[in-house]
Amino acid sequence: MAKWKGLILAGGTGSRLHPLTQTVNKHLLPVYDKPMIFYPLTTLMFAGVRDFVLLTTPSAISTFQVLLGDGSKWGLTIEYRAQEHPGGIAEGFRLARADLEGWQVALILGDNIFYGSGLGAILRDSVSTTTGATVFSYEVANPSAFGILTFDADGNPIAIEEKPANPTSRSAVTGLYFYTPDVLDIAAGLSPSARGELEITDVNRAYLQQGRLKVAPLGRGIAWLDGGTSEDLFEASQFVKVIEERTGLKISCPEEVALRLKLIDKTQFAGLVNGMPPSLYKQYLTRLAH
Ligand code: DAU
Repeated sequence: MAKWKGLILAGGTGSRLHPLTQTVNKHLLPVYDKPMIFYPLTTLMFAGVRDFVLLTTPSAISTFQVLLGDGSKWGLTIEYRAQEHPGGIAEGFRLARADLEGWQVALILGDNIFYGSGLGAILRDSVSTTTGATVFSYEVANPSAFGILTFDADGNPIAIEEKPANPTSRSAVTGLYFYTPDVLDIAAGLSPSARGELEITDVNRAYLQQGRLKVAPLGRGIAWLDGGTSEDLFEASQFVKVIEERTGLKISCPEEVALRLKLIDKTQFAGLVNGMPPSLYKQYLTRLAH
């Protein structure tokens, strides 16, 4: 596999979740039984990514470090970079440039949750493409809230627009993106949008104009959720609860994913579990250890 580095965006102000986010970074808030950040992290682990940069607000870095450490307990490397002000998703490439130079970059938004049958295969397929960018489209009811794609009669993407007032389709671009190393140069050449942000949609448009944007549709079998508002957060928690209770399996526990992907062995796994205080989370993982 080509050399991939994960860039996880966990900055922003989380203003739509005020006052929840007044003292806690949005991506540390619970989605049912675990912090939101576990979901995007494990999504990229399933894609085969082992090395990460997490971009967040200066004040949140130390809390993320308590939770995730340097990643070695899960067979990963995780480095942290600060974003002082929310200057846009594409600003992440500029702020983490030194860490990402020469790597293929898998970008995921820290509030995006993906779950479903066949997702692992889709992700592994995406990291085998190294000539252009891959984004994922998803049919949504409220297209004005997303980056939106337009397709020609043969289904090829011909345009992409950020939060269009008059959407031309319902195909949203999700918060998971796979890029070639030259994404750093594309991001370096961007100008801020009217709302003052470096837009990820402008990065994707550059790939589209170069004929290097692959759009992979995520079908009905895959759930895509985000935690932008308290309503979203509540729904995502309900979704995770229903799936976990019905299947008896938890979604997105990094310890379990690391074990299943053989990033850690059973002894390391048992060590992690033994070190946890009594909880349902520990009970679940203890069951897996036998
Ligand atoms: O969720 C998919 C959508 O994400 C895409 O369809 C849009 O094209 C894309 O612009 C983005 O739209 P949002 O309105 O959801 O982006 P938002 O500003 O809410 O930020 C998404 C995540 O990225 C959030 O977890 C915070 C983080 N973020 C955002 C900005 C602007 C940062 O870490 N730094 C930032 O500067």
